[in-house]
Amino acid sequence: MRSIVPRRHRAGDPRPTRTGGGSPALGRPKPSVAPNPATIRATVLPSAHATRGPLVELHPVTDPKPDPNAVAPSVRDLETIVGLSKRRGFVFPSSEIYGGINAVWDYGPLGVELKNNVKRAWWRAMVQERDDIVGLDSGILMHPQIWVTSGHVAEFNDPMVECATCKRRFRVDEFAGAEDLGPKELLDPGIVARLGLACPNDGGPLNAPRRFNLMLKTFLGPVEDEAAVVYLRPETAQGIYVNYRNVRDTARKKVPFGIAQVGKAFRNEISPGNFVFRMREFEQMEMQYFVRPETAADYFDAWMPRRKAWYEAYGVSPQRLRFREHRPDELAHYAKKAVDVEYRFPFGWKELEGIHNRGDWDLGRHSKESGENLEYFDPATEEHFIPWIVETSAGADRAAFTFLIDAYREEEVRGEKRVVLGLHPDLAPYKVAVLPLLKKRPEIVAMCHRIKSDLKRQTMAVYDDTAAIGKLYRRQDEIGTPWCVTVDVDSLEDGNVTVRDRDAMTQERISADQVTRYITDKLDAARPRGL
Ligand code: GAP
Repeated sequence: MRSIVPRRHRAGDPRPTRTGGGSPALGRPKPSVAPNPATIRATVLPSAHATRGPLVELHPVTDPKPDPNAVAPSVRDLETIVGLSKRRGFVFPSSEIYGGINAVWDYGPLGVELKNNVKRAWWRAMVQERDDIVGLDSGILMHPQIWVTSGHVAEFNDPMVECATCKRRFRVDEFAGAEDLGPKELLDPGIVARLGLACPNDGGPLNAPRRFNLMLKTFLGPVEDEAAVVYLRPETAQGIYVNYRNVRDTARKKVPFGIAQVGKAFRNEISPGNFVFRMREFEQMEMQYFVRPETAADYFDAWMPRRKAWYEAYGVSPQRLRFREHRPDELAHYAKKAVDVEYRFPFGWKELEGIHNRGDWDLGRHSKESGENLEYFDPATEEHFIPWIVETSAGADRAAFTFLIDAYREEEVRGEKRVVLGLHPDLAPYKVAVLPLLKKRPEIVAMCHRIKSDLKRQTMAVYDDTAAIGKLYRRQDEIGTPWCVTVDVDSLEDGNVTVRDRDAMTQERISADQVTRYITDKLDAARPRGL
């Protein structure tokens, strides 16, 4: 076996710009291990708005003070990310050739890799690396009574107003002056006059607010009548609750334990928007943790820093993450307590993930309405009880969007703009690009394909010869590929190739035989553990 021989820069990339010593950085600088929840302290900060719930800031004791207004440095507006997504094939508007469909987006070749990697990273942290959480994949369509029992038929609605002339509908809480009002105030018949609201579309008069249920309906079976109505699930969580006993018994789990699920959810959002932030069809990554009632508050507190640490470990700046607790009148119908992990998007601080103490709301109601006993028997204490549930509920699309925004940077290299997606290697759509320095030399191209085929058995690798090497590097930088492997004329003689690092732009000469091993070792070293 040939040894890995580092050698000086040879390929046509700009000279290395690394100023410090040490080895090239992998992705943005980050701690080699996730913050230990034990070293994290919580501070309840006064809210920016007196009427909103308090901001709960959790940060490792050694962290610099978070800057609450720091947007990702290069993302001035949403258009930067929307433009990149369309240009490079991350996300496309759905049904585009027919004029599109509002609030549905399609993931292109790079987007599907990114989103799959986000879901994989979540599954690894929540299921694969834990002994107390198991997975599930339940149906999107379920018995319609589930949504009556869960409270979604009666309670899952947003107050909205309709324009008397253009008939468009708007969420009341999205009007200036109404953002911080509670549900009762948002349904107050006098709110339109009091806040002087008019239709944002044509200035027409708005009617009094009404509740608008967010669940999408369809029909099951050949007859389209009321009896055939079923709902497209608005959250994946209910599939977990109705399978709670099946999973507990077959997986032989004892409380406390969790069930995790990733899957599509649907909401007939009144005001979707901000690209993939609020969609009508989206994916959730939800985990329900079943605990003894008196321990729910402690488990809630333990899950909060863990979930924030997950985003940080995959590259999101701690300065652009914070917690916000829901006010009592803001809580969802099922929640006793809720804290959002919020991210500083270009359009403001918004929810990225919700952590909820759902008490015995779900299992208690399903047990009563179905007549099935969903109690847990604790052999240690010989007690029967309905477990309480601590839920962590993340959006896969929102997480992928966040990683994309936070990884984006523009820098100047030798007088030219370089766009880089500094994605964590685990999240990057392609891990390696194999590039020929001279595509006219068939032996070089053949060697590239051999290296790429070997890599593809382990990871996502791609070959590209459609431009000069400098341009090829820039293209890979822009889509976040952490490493490029270049084959040149010398490679044919000495069997060595150049590996170029995306972030440091350093180049190393290694044996072609070692490329797959080198990349898999780097990937393994970069992967966060114990989250
Ligand atoms: N089971 C609890 C639940 O669904 P939620 O706060 O309504 O709680 C959880 O949603 C997460 O799902 C949100 O934090 C967000 O990441 C994602 N999500 C919710 N609605 C969404 C939408 N319309 N488009 C994209 N993601 C959405």
